Amino acid sequence: MKVLGISGSLRRGSHNTKLLRAAAELLPPGMELVLYADLKSIPPYDEDDDVGVGPSAVADLRAALAAADAVLIATPEYNGSVPGALKNALDWVSRPFATNALRGKPAAVIGASTSLFGAVWAQAELRKVLTTIGATVVDRELPVASAADQFGAHGELLDDELRAALATIVEELVAAVAVAAPALAA
Ligand code: FNR
Repeated sequence: MKVLGISGSLRRGSHNTKLLRAAAELLPPGMELVLYADLKSIPPYDEDDDVGVGPSAVADLRAALAAADAVLIATPEYNGSVPGALKNALDWVSRPFATNALRGKPAAVIGASTSLFGAVWAQAELRKVLTTIGATVVDRELPVASAADQFGAHGELLDDELRAALATIVEELVAAVAVAAPALAA
């Protein structure tokens, strides 16, 4: 089983990308997290260009999502919301609406920010966007606040409660896969 991990940050030292790597360590045997690393290549959404398979980076993202059993997105918060690059990619993915690659796909949202709030607004908005697109979204958040202080030298989450909360979200995502595709989880 494959989880596609998408970080909403393009930054090399991104705390959100680290958070995805920490989540990967918590997946059960037989389940792997594949990190999507091409967000920067997705062009601005233009309905005129959204014909056929579309731009190649978009086609690749749609294919990666279609091939995944679930998606885990770690989002920073930019000005109280989802970073534009991430929202733009999801706008591409949302088309064609009736058959988009996220429809019915189990999805979970986590997030880290350097502020005291842990990107909770961005996470709430992202869950709303994913629900609108048609994903099956885990109704839980993981606010990692003061992100610069939360990771050890090997990218591990230092706080026991945060590690446990991340494990709970990962478990719920795995459970959602079992509901969506029971044969895969058997
Ligand atoms: C931020 N940051 C931020 N943090 C927050 O909690 N609420 C916010 O509204 C914002 N707004 C915001 C706007 C912009 C343009 C930047 C660059 C940053 C801080 C942000 O959460 C912090 O830089 C994170 O560390 C970004 O995530 P990555 O890149 O570490 O994954």
